Amino acid sequence: MGLFLDSAKIEEVRQAVEFGFLAGVTTNPTIMAKAKGEPKDIIRQICAIAPGPVFYQVTAKTVAEREREGREFFGISPEKVVLKIPATSENMALIARISGDIPCAATAVYSGHQTLVACEAGARYVIPYVNRATRLLGDGCKLVAEMAAVVRATGKQAEILAASIRSADEATQAVLAGANHLTLPMDILMSLGNHPLSDAAIEEFGRAG
Ligand code: E4P
Repeated sequence: MGLFLDSAKIEEVRQAVEFGFLAGVTTNPTIMAKAKGEPKDIIRQICAIAPGPVFYQVTAKTVAEREREGREFFGISPEKVVLKIPATSENMALIARISGDIPCAATAVYSGHQTLVACEAGARYVIPYVNRATRLLGDGCKLVAEMAAVVRATGKQAEILAASIRSADEATQAVLAGANHLTLPMDILMSLGNHPLSDAAIEEFGRAG
């Protein structure tokens, strides 16, 4: 189980690393666009401070360009960079081609059949968008459970990294549904240790002291 920060803001990464329980960092093109700086420089900086895997999503227009882009970003820090590759049949072939050399995550996975082919292609991670799947398909956690069952059926070592989590409760539900890891925005990561009743209990004990 690993808790990842979904952000490319260096200050947030630094703050989250200081918690001491962060597994690594995930980014996506939207998150990269919100961060200041040039993508390679951002990934280089995150790799320098993250304790573990740093996910970069390839964006180039053609599959050959995505492979070149992926190899370039992997070269920034081969011990940390994981390539996020959006789930399409063309990209599953890309994963099959490079996953022997480079750890790959099939991302934006919305079905069991995409999970199946991602596993067979050698993806180390499969990434469901839990909240988006709830909004678009009805039940993001049901999707996570289906994906977990498919991974088990293939006998492969792929791990489910649940993304698009919008609340602490959704994070719990994704884990109970079978997610191996979670990636969370900063506010949700920071909220995991809190509960209003814990605050009330602390206040009560404070009054007693
Ligand atoms: C993961 O990196 C995903 O891109 C991200 O968690 C999507 O989250 P959103 O649905 O909140 O944009």
